[in-house]
Amino acid sequence: SAVGDTPPPGMNFATVAPNTEDAVVIPEGYRQEVVIAWGDPVLPGAPAFDFSRQTPEAQAMQFGYNNDFAGLIPVDGVSGHYYLVCNQEYTTEEFMFTGYQSGEPTEEQARISMAAHGITVVEVSTETGTGAVTTIVGPRNRRITATTPMRLTGPAAGTDFVKTSADPTGETVLGTFANCAGGITPWGTMLSGEENFDGYFSNASAVTDATAAERLERYSFDDDSDYHQWGRFDPRFDLAQEPNEANRFGYVVEVDPHDPNSTPIKHSALGRLKHEGATIHVMSSGPDEGTVVAYTGDDERFEYIYKFVSSRKMKTGVSATARAHNMGILDEGTLYVASFTGDNPDAVDGSGELPEGESFAGTGTWHPLLTVNADGSARSHVDGMTPEEVAVFTRLAADQAGATKMDRPEDIETNPRTGKVYCALTNNDERGTDGEAPADEANPRNENKNGQVIEITDNHTGTDLTWNLLLVCGDPAAADTYYGGYDKTKVSAISCPDNVAFDPHGNLWISTDGNALDSNDGLFAIALDGAQRGQTKQFLTVPEGAETCGPIIGSDRVMVCVQHPGELDDHSADNPASHWPDGGDTQPRPAVVAVWRDGGTPIGV
Ligand code: FEO
Ligand code: CA
Ligand code: CA
Ligand code: CA
Repeated sequence: SAVGDTPPPGMNFATVAPNTEDAVVIPEGYRQEVVIAWGDPVLPGAPAFDFSRQTPEAQAMQFGYNNDFAGLIPVDGVSGHYYLVCNQEYTTEEFMFTGYQSGEPTEEQARISMAAHGITVVEVSTETGTGAVTTIVGPRNRRITATTPMRLTGPAAGTDFVKTSADPTGETVLGTFANCAGGITPWGTMLSGEENFDGYFSNASAVTDATAAERLERYSFDDDSDYHQWGRFDPRFDLAQEPNEANRFGYVVEVDPHDPNSTPIKHSALGRLKHEGATIHVMSSGPDEGTVVAYTGDDERFEYIYKFVSSRKMKTGVSATARAHNMGILDEGTLYVASFTGDNPDAVDGSGELPEGESFAGTGTWHPLLTVNADGSARSHVDGMTPEEVAVFTRLAADQAGATKMDRPEDIETNPRTGKVYCALTNNDERGTDGEAPADEANPRNENKNGQVIEITDNHTGTDLTWNLLLVCGDPAAADTYYGGYDKTKVSAISCPDNVAFDPHGNLWISTDGNALDSNDGLFAIALDGAQRGQTKQFLTVPEGAETCGPIIGSDRVMVCVQHPGELDDHSADNPASHWPDGGDTQPRPAVVAVWRDGGTPIGV
């Protein structure tokens, strides 16, 4: 075999083949265990999960539904203990309740749904020599739900756009939901992106003011978007009654797990969009040393990639004082949106096929949208929009700035080993269709079912970048795919990249959502350097109907969130497609899984 066939350190494991099993399938010689699943007790006194006897009160003390992002934050002063922080993106009521009437929840079902959303903080312990992770039901734990009070900061706070009858000051928002990906900050907090928040509000057409209606439409609100129907029982989710409530969601939320009584923050200086998540890069040298850069993608078809550059510098250390300072960093700085220009536009015919010897690559620009100053005053960089409007209706500002419409920007994160930034562009089946933007070099395939991964060389604090496509995903045997230049006969097929992470060796790991190649979703490792660049190996697959998310790639342990197992058309709790993880005739449960190597030796070496 060729030199490049040898996997780099971190990727030396037996590749998992595509499959449709109702199981988490891992490499030979590895072990796995469910760490925590929907309904497991989190707060002291929580009852054990009982599918047939759910209540809102029990759910508010138990692990929520449909875990997406996961991260580990060390507990100060307790060796081997971490806060496992995990968000719970959404609920699918027909899979949670037998006999559920679509679109017609009972009040109790709606309140269970609200309690099953949000964020969980649960203390876990680990031991050396094994990758097992044990949860501790104790006083460090916390459930944040769709009703937990949060503080709105930045230019949106206190404006008329966010005032409601329950909150005339426009500063205290109840709850978070639709939380998708996220990030862990170097100062020991969790960032979580509020993504598809339009799915929680009814009666969009009752908003008749033309400007307000146009703004709702730009965020895809319509009368059909309200899957959950919470507005039947809480008028704040009815736009006819509280049209501003919708403007209080779509932010990056920051949670300090070290204090279970702390108030989560919604940072409006990072803009309001369908944030997939947000991840942090800190400048490590030069005049910008300590400057914090947050990257975030807006996950909808034809939306944009953003970054925020702080003007306040990070205080090092994990003291409460440093943390309090650092939790204000994302309130002061400049928000940018990206455009991408190809250096070889003739190479784009919409097929996704790369001409021999070419690459999809080019340059780009970060366009400033909004600057927030130290005194809280702010400046808009967009003609005709106030800073407050840019913070709340960020998509409209970005439209004017000339940003590039991307194929659903999902997770975006900086490789700590190289400083290069990777964004998963998951798919876009409407690219190039009637009236929609055609393929360009960064989004080279019309009716794009499999997605791509863009590699960005950014100096982080500046406004110029260069980029190339690392992967054009899909069937390696097809002409419209590209695996970093690696021999496509020797890679695992990857489709619909969603979350990105890095192992301690600098390899990229990607979890997928919506695999369009007739296999279950999975987790893949991708080599980035040298002769192995583009080598892609599948590490695990999740049960049918599930997506893989939240990956945590440690040296001794990989953790993944298994979201919505068994969520297949024509199935429901009355006809479950999956019995994972409990087996027998049980209902499927979203869960977090830890995978490690027999004997506790490092992953993939
Ligand atoms: Fe919730 Fe963009 O995936
Ligand atoms: Ca996602
Ligand atoms: Ca990530
Ligand atoms: Ca997704």
